[in-house]
Amino acid sequence: MLEIKNLVKSYGRYLAVNNLSLEIPEGEIYGFVGPNGAGKTTTMKIICGLLAATSGEVRLDGVDVTRNSNKIKESIGYMPDFFGVYDDLKVTEYLEFYASIYKIKDKEKKKITNDLLELVDLTQKRDAYVDSLSRGMKQRLCLARALIHNPKLLVLDEPASGLDPRARIEMKEILRNLREMGKTILISSHILSELAELCTHIGIIDSGRMVVSGSVSEIMQKVYSHRVLRIKVSARVDEAELILKENPLISKLSRMEDALQAGFEGSEEDMSRLLAALVGKGIPVVTFSQLDGNLEDVFMRVTKGEEKQ
Ligand SMILES: Nc1ncnc2c1ncn2[C@@H]1O[C@H](COP(=O)(O)OP(=O)(O)O)[C@@H](O)[C@H]1O
Ligand SMILES: [Mg+2]
Repeated sequence: MLEIKNLVKSYGRYLAVNNLSLEIPEGEIYGFVGPNGAGKTTTMKIICGLLAATSGEVRLDGVDVTRNSNKIKESIGYMPDFFGVYDDLKVTEYLEFYASIYKIKDKEKKKITNDLLELVDLTQKRDAYVDSLSRGMKQRLCLARALIHNPKLLVLDEPASGLDPRARIEMKEILRNLREMGKTILISSHILSELAELCTHIGIIDSGRMVVSGSVSEIMQKVYSHRVLRIKVSARVDEAELILKENPLISKLSRMEDALQAGFEGSEEDMSRLLAALVGKGIPVVTFSQLDGNLEDVFMRVTKGEEKQ
């Protein structure tokens, strides 16, 4: 649905986006992760036609975004990373105001506003002043605004930043609903774990470059050549320990009662060979497992988190 090829954006001599490519199939939630200054906002603004690229291609359903930015805006809902000041607007007035920008008819305006307030769980706040809302509520209102013209692609720039844990969970729930409604979603964050359970795909960007991308499990596999194994035996733990010690792929072996834990620099095939070696020598292996990798570790390993000074 969305296809970005060799995207470059320079601010003067500074390269904010450096030959970035990514693809988002229809109906997916793509997590765009990177430290502050990585180029996430710049990329998102280019996708939405708010900023001109220096070079490269952005296509939405095959249509070039840069050349058809008005048409594209009908298909994209953008939620920026800041929320403006709306001193004397009430929640419904705010949404109806944006509805009129999209030239939605009066009759429809009311219905759309009501439906969207229901969706983002703000019906009870419909007559409250926007500025009186909590941060979480403001973010949800902002999301409702991005949805007002029923776009098929949502581009959400750090929608969970600054939210407390409860508000984050509520936001996640709404995004899941949106996906079920058939929306395609691009969402950014500088915290990988925030996106890991929500997204179907993840792309990690650092200093304007895509460092790694793919499904969550693919990313884990690509970056996680170093695994941690935990092996539990019902007897002969000393012999098991010896076998592990002799294996060149094993490092940092430690023993806890009847379980052994070790670092392992090998593929899944290497893992199965190790298990076969243990069982082949008659070691009664009870469990042989790989400890869950911490996605945050992966993130730290692949990004340097450099910011322009
Ligand atoms: N208008 C601008 N002029 C010059 N540099 C900019 C401008 N906007 C962003 N940058 C720089 O481009 C880099 C990427 O910024 P941005 O896309 O906002 O990153 P992110 O959203 O990942 O934090 C940063 O180093 C930032 O300082
Ligand atoms: Mg940003």
